Amino acid sequence: MLFNDLIAAIGGTPLVRLRLDAAPGVAAYAKLELANPFAMKDRVARHIILSALESGELTPGAPIVESSSGTMALGVALVGTYLGHPVHIVTDPRIDPITLAKLTAMGCEVHVVEAMTGGGWQSARLERLAELMATLPGAFWPRQYSNPQNPAAYAGLAAELSRELGDVDVLVGAVGSGGSLCGTTRAMRLLSPGVRSVAVDCVGSVLFGQPDRPGRLQSGLGNSLLPDNLDHALLDEVHWLNDREAFAGAADLAREQKIFAGNTSGSVYTVLRYLAGRAAPGTRIVGVFPDRGDRYVDTVYDSAYRAAKGLGELPLASQPERVAYGTQVSRWSCADPGERTEAADAVIAGVR
Ligand SMILES: Cc1ncc(COP(=O)(O)O)c(C=O)c1O
Repeated sequence: MLFNDLIAAIGGTPLVRLRLDAAPGVAAYAKLELANPFAMKDRVARHIILSALESGELTPGAPIVESSSGTMALGVALVGTYLGHPVHIVTDPRIDPITLAKLTAMGCEVHVVEAMTGGGWQSARLERLAELMATLPGAFWPRQYSNPQNPAAYAGLAAELSRELGDVDVLVGAVGSGGSLCGTTRAMRLLSPGVRSVAVDCVGSVLFGQPDRPGRLQSGLGNSLLPDNLDHALLDEVHWLNDREAFAGAADLAREQKIFAGNTSGSVYTVLRYLAGRAAPGTRIVGVFPDRGDRYVDTVYDSAYRAAKGLGELPLASQPERVAYGTQVSRWSCADPGERTEAADAVIAGVR
């Protein structure tokens, strides 16, 4: 495929049918967002930056500042520096050396905060970002957690799925900012009104009414704060996996499907495989696989790291336990986020 520039090469990612012991007549697919130049968030960076240039919120050559330790940082760095903007990325010490090398190699400035504040690493990064914004006149902040152009960027992904598959019955995606799953679901429902949307989160994330547990090892999904871009009303089911289960999912994905990906893809695969095994004949189920595995070689794919972190002591469930929304979980569990409970409301009220 020929492109006249790198930004045009974002999107149009492969959709691959998975070899699974699914129920007869069930087809499960992986949308390989990891095949973007960097990863899934290349789409978001392109859409937000081009929209901001069009609206005048970002002027040509003005600095761009974003808080991220992974895929969003790479996307903003790629699109921003490609278009000639100075790019400042605020991150924390959990950033992996491969991402750091890529960011620096592209010519952006990386600011690493040193300590957590009240809302964990997330709030520490946002505080540093505010300081930077104050010192950089005309700086633009893509605000992936609240900018509606983040979910809007996934209209293209939904259109690709619809073009390839026609109707989709079930969509499975990991949730960090909420942009990818909520944006894809919103756009898909215009094309496949009945699509069921399944969110994947990690144990100890507040996104779906669980109490915050700092020190989570999974990156990309989960949050200590509640982003505006997460619209619970769009989602039909949520699954939480603990760190051991998520990392095991990534190992299963590599061994069983030959897809070497990050821990969010691993969690999505675990949930997708389970749902495919129980789906009615004729069901079409798609999982979104956000990034490649290379930057996780020293963590997810390192047995010494997993042992040092005591992962072997965590439960490793082979199927989810269905719980009432708001029940505190520590192993693979699932619930209906449409169910309101006092416990979940109290957690959500506390993080707003
Ligand atoms: C690897 C990975 N997977 C999943 C997600 C979750 O995507 P979203 O922020 O759209 O909810 C992210 C977000 O940064 C990510 O980096």
